[in-house]
Amino acid sequence: MTKLKKQAFELPIIGMDQFEGYSIFYQDEGDFSAMFEITNTVEQYCASAESYELFHSAMLKIIGNLKEGDILQKQDILIRKQYKAEPQSDFLSECYHNHFEGRWYTEIKTILTITHQVNRSALYSFDPKNFEDFKATIQKVYSELKASGFKPDLYLSDSIRQTVLREVSFSFDRAVLSIENFHATEKWIGLAKDRRVAVRSLIDTDNVDLPAQLSACRIQNINERDFPVDLMSLLYSVPDYELIIYNQIIEVVNRSKTKAKLEAKKRKHIGIPDPANDYAVQDIEALQKELENSNLTLVNSHFSILVKTHKAKLEGVLNHIDSKLKDIGVKASETAYNQFELFKANISGNAGSLKHYDRFLTTANAAVCLMAKERLPQDDPTDFKIYFADRQGVPVVCDTNEYPRSSGRTTNRNKFVLGPSGSGKSFFMNALLRQFYKYGMDIMLIDVGHSYSGLCDYYKGRYITYSEDNPITVNPFLITPEDLKEEEKLQSLVSLVGILWKGADGTLKKLEDSILTETLRDYFTAYFEEKTIDQLCFNTFYEFSRDRIKQIKEENQVDFDLHEYLYILKTFYKGGQYDFLLNNTMDSSLFDEQFIVFEIDNVKDHPVLFPILTLIIMDISLQKMRKKKGPKALIIEEAWKAIASPMMVGYIQYLYKTCRKMYGEAVLVTQELEDIISSPTLKKSVIGNSDIFCLLDQSKFKDSYEEIANVLGLNETEQNKIFTINNLDNTKDRGPFKEVYIKRGSSGEVYGVEVSAEEYFTFSTERVEKEAIKLYMKMHGSFEDAVKSLVRDFKASGLSPMDFAKQVISKQ
Ligand SMILES: Nc1ncnc2c1ncn2[C@@H]1O[C@H](COP(=O)(O)OP(=O)(O)OP(=O)(O)O)[C@@H](O)[C@H]1O
Ligand SMILES: [Mg+2]
Repeated sequence: MTKLKKQAFELPIIGMDQFEGYSIFYQDEGDFSAMFEITNTVEQYCASAESYELFHSAMLKIIGNLKEGDILQKQDILIRKQYKAEPQSDFLSECYHNHFEGRWYTEIKTILTITHQVNRSALYSFDPKNFEDFKATIQKVYSELKASGFKPDLYLSDSIRQTVLREVSFSFDRAVLSIENFHATEKWIGLAKDRRVAVRSLIDTDNVDLPAQLSACRIQNINERDFPVDLMSLLYSVPDYELIIYNQIIEVVNRSKTKAKLEAKKRKHIGIPDPANDYAVQDIEALQKELENSNLTLVNSHFSILVKTHKAKLEGVLNHIDSKLKDIGVKASETAYNQFELFKANISGNAGSLKHYDRFLTTANAAVCLMAKERLPQDDPTDFKIYFADRQGVPVVCDTNEYPRSSGRTTNRNKFVLGPSGSGKSFFMNALLRQFYKYGMDIMLIDVGHSYSGLCDYYKGRYITYSEDNPITVNPFLITPEDLKEEEKLQSLVSLVGILWKGADGTLKKLEDSILTETLRDYFTAYFEEKTIDQLCFNTFYEFSRDRIKQIKEENQVDFDLHEYLYILKTFYKGGQYDFLLNNTMDSSLFDEQFIVFEIDNVKDHPVLFPILTLIIMDISLQKMRKKKGPKALIIEEAWKAIASPMMVGYIQYLYKTCRKMYGEAVLVTQELEDIISSPTLKKSVIGNSDIFCLLDQSKFKDSYEEIANVLGLNETEQNKIFTINNLDNTKDRGPFKEVYIKRGSSGEVYGVEVSAEEYFTFSTERVEKEAIKLYMKMHGSFEDAVKSLVRDFKASGLSPMDFAKQVISKQ
């Protein structure tokens, strides 16, 4: 066996210069470079072809700042990492983060290096002018990057050294670096621990094989819609890799010299008639034609994918890359037997050493098309950390409340949640509220279907179900002179009286509205100023209005059906069937409860009680909103339908406005848009006052989406994002999840609602699964112990949640 000859591999940086805040580094032939870390401007799945085009034109501008012979080298480094759960303060949060522990995900780091090549034919001599020119170039590149949103960070010597060290050690995931021995063969570079690196050159320069038409992005079909993706999106689909570096090298060449060279090359090919030469002539002529018609920058370029993986996986990985490249019309080089040379030339600042056979001549325009343009979503910079999963399946911070406001994206926290039945609205709300609670938020829910009982048990909140023996009461007339200064307060009471009188489906005539408004105003004047009323409540209002409306009628000779009014409202007056509802002050202990569910499922078909109870609860919530200082949320599930009447517009407007002013939010959850759309004023007060829309799977509404899009102000780009919900190929190695689109202000993003098994059983709205939890609670007492034990048994059973729950119930 022949012994392998060992050679020391020198770090290809021979020096570093500092000047005026810049660090310039030299490669061994004297070329010098500056390095930036940048962030790609296009967020993955942003659905906007325009974003890719903007990236494209920004990059062309940057290249336009380079001098002839300068090289722009962009490296998109995909680092495979494993999610690490941080310790959390409560049980379900802990379960949530632990659920993702160890999950693989990708992080992208983008490095941009600008290199000035020295004249290789002359002896190297230091020319201060070159240096000054380079400095000016770097300044221009920096400004351009900044102006175009690349967030450039100009690296100083330590970061440069670190980056190069990481490149030569093929390691971006470890904090501590060690350069291991490696040996290069024709096809790959072997590393310790059975790891291998291979470099795939994108273009076979013997046989330039670019797709006929390149553009800034590629159109893919997702859910029957055209969806723009990165031309190089294949990078994100590579299986089993540990590190990928996508090298993009663009060297600005002298236009007139190159044109002359092209002509000479063409003549040479014409001289030898054979099919391959004919193709070469055609390619050259196409390029010449393009150059004649424009002043496009000419560049020499090189694109290659360096990949590191386990040796057993390398072939599969490379086959995947080759076949995906083929899909976009690019052929990988079959002759890249110079693996070590390619690797070395791709180290930052070394692009000048790329051999001529690894570069191909094209226009800057075409070269930039092949650049990777995407970044992955980042955590919102906020203390209000609400987690959902990103599209690859790891938690990412999506602040639904504070950051969007402070950054000017939204002006209120109100939310509108829409999705067909079973799409996961309540489940999503559970996941959201579990996290809201941790920030001390006061949560009040009006529900009609027991979707929040698990969460209420977990937080030991108050679960109030309506019954005649234990009614929910309020005194909506008990207000202060301060409250009266707001026009909407009086209007909200007119709405209440209107609902009592006409029912939720009725309407108040203009005259009736005016008379009630006047009567209410006089009623409060009688109490606060004239002191002719001793107590504010429905009973005294009823008596006062009886006399006052009669008087108004007589004085003005107007029509008002006082008999009907008095007769219907009598039910709520002393001795009436519902006299308890509006005459008793609310249960003051509700002020101290952080989590309250008002469950009114059992009155949802009651024409009188349902709307009135909904109103009463809203009123209680408003009182609480005013009294408590911290953040507050009022969630109205389908119950809002009870009050979906034009009469309620005033009340709803008042509710939304009060929420905004009182550090609160109103959240309306619904499966139908129809009732809201059908009333223009309701639409304005609910949708117009909610800056945040949370949309679950909308495929069901697909055929009539124009209308929904119109109402919700969703342009084509946002619609494209919405139709990716539950439609990406991203379920592998993940737990069950559903996706939600969260629009904050004018644009939104899609997140995964993926939770731990413990949360699943807490949030589930499936009756059988809820019953299973109840049985475990009977056995264990505390909710936490019950869930722990149930999940242990569930995992051991290997069954689906539903089958497991059925088994639990059948065994009892
Ligand atoms: N993100 C999710 N992950 C796992 N399972 C989910 C998720 N979302 C929903 N489900 C499952 O789907 C069921 C129905 O979801 P949910 O009750 O939230 O639907 P909904 O949109 O509120 O329907 P409805 O309009 O009928 O109230 C849940 O009980 C759960 O089993
Ligand atoms: Mg629901």
